Amino acid sequence: MSETATITIEGKEFVYPVIHGTEGEKAIDLRKLRGDSGYITYDDGYGNTGSCLSEITFINGEVGILRHRGIPIEELAENASFLNTAFLVIYGHLPGKEEYETFSNSIGSNASVPGDFSHHFSGFPNDAHPMAVLSAMLNAIGCYHGKLTSNNREQELEHFYKAASLLISKVRTIAAMTYRMRKDLPFVEPREDLGYVENFLHMMFHGEKEDYQPSAEEAHALDLFLLLHADHEQNCSTSTVRMVSSGGANLFASVSSGVSALWGPLHGGANTAVVKMLQSIHDSGDDGSQFIEAAKSGKARLMGFGHRVYKNYDPRAKILGGAAEKLMANMGHSDPLLDIARHLEKAALEDEYFIQRKLYPNVDFYSGLILKAIGIPVEMFTVMFAIGRMPGWIANWHELATTSSRIHRPRQIYTGKTDQHYVPVKDR
Ligand code: CMC
Repeated sequence: MSETATITIEGKEFVYPVIHGTEGEKAIDLRKLRGDSGYITYDDGYGNTGSCLSEITFINGEVGILRHRGIPIEELAENASFLNTAFLVIYGHLPGKEEYETFSNSIGSNASVPGDFSHHFSGFPNDAHPMAVLSAMLNAIGCYHGKLTSNNREQELEHFYKAASLLISKVRTIAAMTYRMRKDLPFVEPREDLGYVENFLHMMFHGEKEDYQPSAEEAHALDLFLLLHADHEQNCSTSTVRMVSSGGANLFASVSSGVSALWGPLHGGANTAVVKMLQSIHDSGDDGSQFIEAAKSGKARLMGFGHRVYKNYDPRAKILGGAAEKLMANMGHSDPLLDIARHLEKAALEDEYFIQRKLYPNVDFYSGLILKAIGIPVEMFTVMFAIGRMPGWIANWHELATTSSRIHRPRQIYTGKTDQHYVPVKDR
């Protein structure tokens, strides 16, 4: 007999099925609770709510495990590229040689934007935030591809491969165009002969930096950065993408909302906040010790630390910390902010406040230092996160679109006034 859980409410027993994930995760299937008993579950921030069944990414935050389609992130970081990982996350298996070539050619050939698309950029003030521009432009580019944005699921799924390649490719073109727009520089055409990361850096910096040519180390570090951001199960932006998609919205609209969700400093915006924090610690002459005290007293927040799911090291932070050091050593470049970050990490890991709350460095703690070393300005950091996260959003949109999910529609507990009457303005 399958396992069940019994809930007693007002003396009455209700029996519900227990679900087990393939990694031993356990859940009580409470979908019928309200209909049976009139009660709902209350779970502010969804820390205890499984919103879906998913086969894409597994995290065990207690011990610091992250796997995509079963493959540990450490093995992907060591052996795979961002595009390999993107294919794995979206299509469920590592690409064979031919599959990889088709995928990467499709991404390479989809990099340019329609001629009149650039006009949209002139509608923004030059100092518009790059995340606002990116979110708007992902919807805008969808308008040029009617079959991919018809809000007809069957048709969109038929063209899914095209839509996925197009988004992975064009998100990087749009990001580079946004950077150029902000600097009042002419846009740079993509080059099909360049790799994914090299083409992005070309569209960003060509002509701005004389004879610009990224080093192999820079290209590798950026590829690794993107790979490590490829997916992270039901975080704020990915669950937003699924939420929007559950109403039937197309992939472009759904990932555009993912960009907005990612923007905030508690989510993707943390990578910007970390470097700003490190810079201000540096400028104040502190080595990080005073800042740690401020974080413990609640006067400041140690950005890049803590995670809803990881109660141990975020494995991505470990990889990125090492990569930041290696990149700077290779470039013969030292950054005092890296020393401050290492000092903060050490001090926090030895401090009772952080130990008790199980606060460890997360993916954003070192990632900004890598981007900074490559020459990417701080206001573009969260856009870089969005480029990396695109495969995860796409995979989750597809998973939802191909399973029998209902429209996402949480309940609430109403705590406002009851039964008021309208009072005409003259009597107020
Ligand atoms: N610095 C100082 N104290 C912290 C921090 C921090 N970074 N993070 C959590 N705490 C404390 C918090 O004050 C609370 O203490 P107390 O129990 O005394 O009230 C306790 O730890 C639990 O924190 P919480 O805010 O309830 O935890 P949460 O799961 O709701 O929030 C978080 C997770 C990531 C939003 C939070 O840790 C945070 O704000 N971190 C800094 C921002 C950051 O780095 N965000 C990037 C997350 S990883 C990438 C991504 O997914 O986007």
